[in-house]
Amino acid sequence: MDIKKRIDQLINEINRASYEYYALDNPSLSDQEYDDKYNELLRLEEKYPELKRDDSPTNRVGGEAIDKFTKVTHKTPMLSFDDIFNSEEIEMFDERIKKTISKPEYTLEPKMDGLSGSLLYEDGVLVRAATRGDGVTGEDITINVKTIKSVPLHLSKKIDIEVRGEIYMSKLSFDKANIERRNNGEKEFANPRNAAAGSVRQLDSKITAKRDLDFMAYFIPNPEKYGIKTQKESLDFLRELGFKTNYELNSLAHSAKDIEKYIEDLGNKRPNLPYDIDGVVIKVNSLSDEDELGFTSRVPRWGIAYKFPALEVLTKLNKIVFTVGRTGKITPNAYFDTVHVDGSLVSKATLHNSDYCIEKDIRVGDIISIRKAGDVIPEVVEVKLDRREGSPEPFKMIDKCPICNTELIRKDANHFCPNDKCPARNIEKLEHYASRDAMNFDGFGERIIEDFYNLGYINNFSDFYDLSKYKDELMTLEGFGEKSISNLLETIENSKQNSVERLIYALGIRYVGKKTAKIFAYMFGDLDKFMASDYDTLKNINEIGDIIAQSVVDYFKDENNLKEINKLRKLGVNFKYLGNKINTDNENINGKTFVITGTLSKPRNYYKEILESLGGNVTESVTKKTDYVLLGENPGSKYDKAKELNISILSEDDFNNMI
Ligand code: IVH
Repeated sequence: MDIKKRIDQLINEINRASYEYYALDNPSLSDQEYDDKYNELLRLEEKYPELKRDDSPTNRVGGEAIDKFTKVTHKTPMLSFDDIFNSEEIEMFDERIKKTISKPEYTLEPKMDGLSGSLLYEDGVLVRAATRGDGVTGEDITINVKTIKSVPLHLSKKIDIEVRGEIYMSKLSFDKANIERRNNGEKEFANPRNAAAGSVRQLDSKITAKRDLDFMAYFIPNPEKYGIKTQKESLDFLRELGFKTNYELNSLAHSAKDIEKYIEDLGNKRPNLPYDIDGVVIKVNSLSDEDELGFTSRVPRWGIAYKFPALEVLTKLNKIVFTVGRTGKITPNAYFDTVHVDGSLVSKATLHNSDYCIEKDIRVGDIISIRKAGDVIPEVVEVKLDRREGSPEPFKMIDKCPICNTELIRKDANHFCPNDKCPARNIEKLEHYASRDAMNFDGFGERIIEDFYNLGYINNFSDFYDLSKYKDELMTLEGFGEKSISNLLETIENSKQNSVERLIYALGIRYVGKKTAKIFAYMFGDLDKFMASDYDTLKNINEIGDIIAQSVVDYFKDENNLKEINKLRKLGVNFKYLGNKINTDNENINGKTFVITGTLSKPRNYYKEILESLGGNVTESVTKKTDYVLLGENPGSKYDKAKELNISILSEDDFNNMI
């Protein structure tokens, strides 16, 4: 057979099979048959690259990486509905609709817990996919959405249409992704929604492709263009076009009672669904009724989103374990019988500090309720005091470090292990040094560091750079091969060229966060000058208070820290600031602090960049430390403050003369 014809035929058959599988949930091909066709297509495309079609299903593995997402404006804004939470509000919604529509019919749909996306098709071909963004402008994620197998690249009709729906990750794919991340020592995703959001915003679509996302279609912005008269018809039309819709679970209702019954039934099915849902979306079915109801200034009046109550789960507290953080901070953690909370398994939650435990009167053996705080970190909400059996021991704060046995000290609400050499602190310090915002040893996750520490390969920062001497030993570890080890070593070697703010942050000086590290790098230009600065010099920097200044001085007084820094120097770790070069010749500007206020002839950033490039420091608020205020028209309270503190005022002309 003609090769081109065979390719066309295979593509048709594969697309048909995908449609049956994803949209109809009724596959006619076995997995083996599907794989055979897919592999034959792959082979032919490899052999005859000139015959490879742009819309081939083999393209779903992702393509070239991009360096940023471009912004797109939605043709019609992507709105969302108001949320409601209980039966009363459902009844109020129904009453409100009935004031306009005498006998409303509603569609009821599971509220998918992912992120909404808009897909544009021209002539039946997918041309653009975008995130919701702020509803008016989103980001172009076409290359990533093309990897989602349930998104048809071609529709069954050659029409122009926009389709909206939810991009989500199934519970199974979420578990798989997390197993992989755990094995790689990477931080696990908190829930499928975060996983989907993170995956769809990957600059490398090959990564998105591996994450196995899904798309559920639920909305057409201008349905009347296609002769559609109801939301139900929209959903049927979407299915006909090749989309996955929630065909089995979508339903119709005619009263608040119907809606409540549906919510109850769906709530029962929820744990067994293959994906997360967080409520029910209720829409008026008839489009002419929708038109009559219209919109408020924010949201459509013709629909509403019922949200399931936040899940709180009861479990039994088995023990309280104290852990030691990088700064020596001691945290009590609750360990309880494993429970499923909002789609993830949890067996541990933070108890913050001793005050928190005492206030809750939490005791081992208690029944406690657990909730995801802000949907991410599990939290102990309540201790069920009425279910306490017997009289368990009240919570008692430890007085010695659980790892090195050093006497703890208390600062405000927290306890600290003051021993710098405490092994627990050490592991966290090493993890911090390697972390993304610090030296950024990509691929060197927390678990690997802990293993390497326990095996004795790394004790200090400088040991990272000497890992090659353990190359043979590393190769014998599970999950490590020649390639992954040389990648790791190369990443570490390359990180020696980082600009010094990363190193300053990586050292883990107490209170010196990312932003402060950048300020120091910028102000001093290199680590040696920073190390040599005294308390007063540090304190005179606008953003730096006495706590940070003292902490820096203390850090560099410590012999061990100095020794380690010297080792890093010998290993060739860069100590210089490599950001925008600062010209320190202009004494009026170098080291001085400026505040810019009012309307100037150019955007504020213009002046900021010039001042910073000449060693000036631009801050937001006028304080005693401010040297100059650059004043534009219509200044606000900053001008008053400057007058009050007698600070020199610069006009734009003064500024130009100065530079
Ligand atoms: S319809 C005007 N249908 O929940 C809103 N939305 O407020 C049109 N969602 O942000 C959206 N499942 O991302 C609709 N079956 C469903 C949905 C759904 C989830 C999301 C959507 C929107 C929010 C509703």
